[in-house]
Amino acid sequence: MKRSPRNAPGLNLDSSRRSFLQKSALAGGLLLLSTRSRGVGAESAPAEPTNDTLKTIHRLRTIHGNFRDQSLPEAALQTILQASVRAACASNNQSYAIIVVKDRQMMKNLCGYQGGCLLLFCADYNRIKASAAALGYTYEPGTIVEFVNATINTTLAAQTAVIAAKSLGIDSLLTNGVHRGDMDRLWKLLELPPTHCFPVIALVLGYPTEEPAIRKGRLDGLGVVHHGKYHRLTPEETADLTRQYDDKSRHLALIEDWDAQGYKHYFDWYFKAWVGRNNQPGPEETQMLRLLKRSGFIELK
Ligand SMILES: Cc1cc2nc3c(=O)[nH]c(=O)nc-3n(C[C@H](O)[C@H](O)[C@H](O)COP(=O)(O)O)c2cc1C
Repeated sequence: MKRSPRNAPGLNLDSSRRSFLQKSALAGGLLLLSTRSRGVGAESAPAEPTNDTLKTIHRLRTIHGNFRDQSLPEAALQTILQASVRAACASNNQSYAIIVVKDRQMMKNLCGYQGGCLLLFCADYNRIKASAAALGYTYEPGTIVEFVNATINTTLAAQTAVIAAKSLGIDSLLTNGVHRGDMDRLWKLLELPPTHCFPVIALVLGYPTEEPAIRKGRLDGLGVVHHGKYHRLTPEETADLTRQYDDKSRHLALIEDWDAQGYKHYFDWYFKAWVGRNNQPGPEETQMLRLLKRSGFIELK
């Protein structure tokens, strides 16, 4: 039986994002590189990918849900890891830890999903701190600056793993399911160091149980790419972006049936039903802030 990741063990979660996404995937047809009109501010039609690297990148798409119960070949996993660590990183310090998880139940407990393998990418300075301590130095990466740098390094490594996997015919799901529910479970389940180690993103790798019917679209011009200086959108341009998201052939929306749910525009669903759910600042600090403070990454004065 398939379960929503948000109801997985260790996750006290209520939404059914995966079913949303599965419905959306079923609703459309396969979209290859679109050459249709792209709205106000449209630039030239996208070029066809002309080499294997670009073809791999343009074939990327998320598997929203679980993967087949099939392990990754060990050689492929090693290739993915070796590619992942080739990503650029500030000061070449590799301020991350990649935890390889092969146990499917553990994957589920960590992020709500399971696949052939899970890589948990953590911002982590403990290795560097140990090197410092071994030579008698004290190194305390205790500012938000170090956290941001480590998060960038970690994310670049994760995305590089995604591309490497795809080049080997292995699909992926990047998920922040690790940030849902009681996040302390990650420290407990994986014995993460209490300080200067923070789970940033989980990458589930594997072979899909079913092929997604569509490839999601992306904005690639107005409002996203700014030439020379920042361009503030005019009301007409903003209205055009709303139209672009409403245009189902563009596959920009997270779900496809927002109109069937009674919303006039996709963004009506997005702002009322989706982002409004849990992003409102409340009287209590978020668990993320509490754990970042505990991790020593926030300057506490
Ligand atoms: C930080 C982050 C968290 C995500 N979390 C989830 C998730 O929990 N569940 C899921 O199905 N997809 C998740 N995704 C995948 C996005 O939904 C997906 O990338 C997006 O809808 C675009 O689809 P595509 O990757 O197929 O082009 C996540 C992606 C990112 C970058």
